[in-house]
Amino acid sequence: MLKSLNLSSLPENHCGILRHSSNTRPVIWVIEEKGLRVVIKDFSNSKFLYRNLIGRFLIWRERRAYKTLKALKGIPTCYGVIDGLALALEEIPSRPLKKHNKEMKLPDTFFDDLKNIVDSFHKRGLAHCDLKNGANVLVGHDGRPYIVDWSASISKKECRFFPLNRIYLRFILDDYFAVIKLKMRYAPETLRLEEERQYAHRSHVERGVRVIRDSLRKFLMKIV
Ligand SMILES: Nc1ncnc2c1ncn2[C@@H]1O[C@H](COP(=O)(O)OP(=O)(O)O)[C@@H](O)[C@H]1O
Ligand SMILES: [Mg+2]
Repeated sequence: MLKSLNLSSLPENHCGILRHSSNTRPVIWVIEEKGLRVVIKDFSNSKFLYRNLIGRFLIWRERRAYKTLKALKGIPTCYGVIDGLALALEEIPSRPLKKHNKEMKLPDTFFDDLKNIVDSFHKRGLAHCDLKNGANVLVGHDGRPYIVDWSASISKKECRFFPLNRIYLRFILDDYFAVIKLKMRYAPETLRLEEERQYAHRSHVERGVRVIRDSLRKFLMKIV
């Protein structure tokens, strides 16, 4: 399916744009191929240096993450990479949680399902690291949560030695904090006391660790 796809023809052949490109962000197209709707995350229009240094690297990393995540519920199927610059994904008919109208109630099971997805990818040795703002959590038209955007994810394998192994555990914890934070924002009535406590007990030390960890993550993303 991907073999016949030509990135330069997407501006004429797409059937929707989920997000326009910016200096640092890829354009997100929707295309239809043989009756199948496919999302294409495409860096081919970014500036030369950014496209070839950062774009290729991010697509490679995200593809690698999707291989680890294969067949997990709540994660789109990845169909592959086109010309090293674009990722083709199953389209999830959805809206990002970030755009969810807070007046509209989410299904009761939404955040439990989200937590189960987080558990499932942690079991495969991956931390997402970018769940907090709700742009990467989708509310499916079926009412279920889906998670996209794995370009910032970190694997347990690349953090196997001290002190990275300790930092990886913080990434894992942070994914859970992100779920609590989103729950606070979009379904505060479902928040459990224990979750409120966990969130409130994030100490100043932890915040300090997070600053160090975030810098380290950026560094790791540059060298791996
Ligand atoms: N597989 C998908 N199905 C439906 N919408 C998607 C899919 N992948 C991405 N999107 C939409 O495109 C937006 C940007 O995609 P994302 O992978 O988060 O890009 P970026 O790395 O630039 O943040 C998401 O917030 C979501 O709205
Ligand atoms: Mg995103």
